Amino acid sequence: MRKITIAIDGHSSTGKSTVAKQLADYLGYIFVDSGAMYRAVTLFALRKGIISESHFDKEKLIDSLAEIQLTFKKNKEEKAEMYLNDENVEKQIRTLEVSEFVSPIATVSEVRKKLVEQQQEMGKEGGIVMDGRDIGSVVFPNAELKIFMTASPQVRAERRYKELLERGDTISFEEVLENVTERDQIDSNRRDSPLKIAEGAIVIDNSETNQEDQFHMLLQLAKDRIAGRV
Ligand code: CDP
Ligand code: CDP
Repeated sequence: MRKITIAIDGHSSTGKSTVAKQLADYLGYIFVDSGAMYRAVTLFALRKGIISESHFDKEKLIDSLAEIQLTFKKNKEEKAEMYLNDENVEKQIRTLEVSEFVSPIATVSEVRKKLVEQQQEMGKEGGIVMDGRDIGSVVFPNAELKIFMTASPQVRAERRYKELLERGDTISFEEVLENVTERDQIDSNRRDSPLKIAEGAIVIDNSETNQEDQFHMLLQLAKDRIAGRV
């Protein structure tokens, strides 16, 4: 059976990674959460004092890029986890602090170039589901299936807030809502590879769709492409 490329882009906390992983598991494809890579670069920059509330030393970040090695390794449950220079940073990259600095980091073209090259290498054989912001537009413009996911900011912030509370983070709903809307704003307006609906992408608003229905809807779209029906 032919192996296709599935690109899932969209706004923050729309369930992109969840459905991308479900599809990859079902189809036996590679799953890549490209946001985890931008988050790992952000964690590196925070630790090195390259970015803070008061400053952002872009040149230093660019000069340090060669020191950053990103890899995904599967854990015992077969879930891919992010490694930064051989350190498992899966938990550290999901904090609100990293979320607050990741969008400025992702505006830097040199960062994007490095990560996009690595992402294209991972998907060169097809059989991949990757989620992010520029997957259908820049990373895999020829993907057989492109999805753009969105939902209301309120619903998205509620989903992310619940997730952070379950992890034990002490944050307010307002902080999460502010982060979600601020990232939408920066991601959609940056000069290099802004978040936009890629040509040929199917737009899905899942404000009122549960994950199960969402998965089945996308699986059908994928099966149609694999069978060459579309
Ligand atoms: O999961 P969540 O929606 O919070 O975001 P993410 O997918 O982990 O991505 C975090 C941030 O990385 C985004 O807000 C973007 O600034 C950046 N990103 C990007 O620029 N391009 C991608 N392909 C993926 C993420
Ligand atoms: O990757 P992205 O930031 O788009 O979202 P995610 O990390 O896959 O999902 C964010 C949260 O929303 C997770 O806790 C999902 O379980 C939840 N979610 C939901 O409750 N209903 C949906 N239809 C989609 C996601």
